Amino acid sequence: MAKIIFYGGKGGVGKTTSSTANSIHFANKGLRTLLISTDPAHSISDVLEMKIGREIIKVRDNLYGLEIDPEYEASLYIDKIRQNMKTILSNVIIDEINTQLDAAMVSPGTHESALFDKMAEIIIEKFDDYDVMIFDTAPTGHTLRLLTLPGLLEDWMASLIKKRKSIVGMNKMLSKKYDEKDPVLEILEKRQKRFGEIKKILIDGNDLTLRFVLNPEQLAIEETKKAVAQLEKFDLPVEALIINRILPEEFNNEFWQKKKEQEKVYLDIIEKSFPNKKLIKIPLIDSDIRKNTIDLIAEYFKEA
Ligand SMILES: Nc1ncnc2c1ncn2[C@@H]1O[C@H](COP(=O)(O)OP(=O)(O)OP(=O)(O)O)[C@@H](O)[C@H]1O
Ligand SMILES: [Mg+2]
Repeated sequence: MAKIIFYGGKGGVGKTTSSTANSIHFANKGLRTLLISTDPAHSISDVLEMKIGREIIKVRDNLYGLEIDPEYEASLYIDKIRQNMKTILSNVIIDEINTQLDAAMVSPGTHESALFDKMAEIIIEKFDDYDVMIFDTAPTGHTLRLLTLPGLLEDWMASLIKKRKSIVGMNKMLSKKYDEKDPVLEILEKRQKRFGEIKKILIDGNDLTLRFVLNPEQLAIEETKKAVAQLEKFDLPVEALIINRILPEEFNNEFWQKKKEQEKVYLDIIEKSFPNKKLIKIPLIDSDIRKNTIDLIAEYFKEA
């Protein structure tokens, strides 16, 4: 049974760095860990300096990686809809809908739905194979917000199924085809089952942990407060904050010394604003974070 950790935060704050470092820490402790990126660009492949793709690959002892490409998943998703449609609708309508599906392929909503489906599939299928699953989210997709959806979607599916059942019931009365299984109903029931399963794991099962990355700056603090409050409104508590890029203590330069004083004020505000959260502090290091420096960052996750 896996513990599931999602990393969120604004663009460029250090989500990929933190989620990768956290994964390395768990793997070093002997836990079977799966690190999953939902961002095809500048991602865990770059940090770990190895090709990680659509299939789970071993990164090092106890650590496995996977990159989900939302665009690719969206095209599979649309293809599946086209297939399902063929069994239900007439050719004339299919042509019309196909045009609309082509447009849907590039819409962000489709990417999010496809991403959600893929994440749900991985969580449901791999839940028993790993001790920890860590998701590094993309800055543009509102991946964390997707987590608030399974409950809503389950209810929505239930109402669609009810409606469909009444239509199917009427058709049956008219055509007297009593024993044919309705394909639309089958699809709806399958999706409802998946939303139910994912909700059971993520929300009811307490297996989900959310972590937020931020830099010690004023705007970031305000935005994090808002994001945390929003998630908590949906009963998705944020367990820890990762404060990344903390400046060194001493500078022999007036400009940087002043910056450091300012940062201390912000660190203080963070501690006061989030009294119940675990705070993981990571220093700014003097190079980009790559294969040879990521283990250094993993050290800071010892308490986490
Ligand atoms: N503590 C640090 N010290 C030095 N460089 C860092 C630190 N944390 C992150 N970086 C660098 O900052 C850049 C952005 O970090 P990272 O990719 O982890 O952020 P991200 O939140 O995942 O970004 P995105 O929102 O684009 O996915 C990278 O080049 C990374 O190497
Ligand atoms: Mg990233």
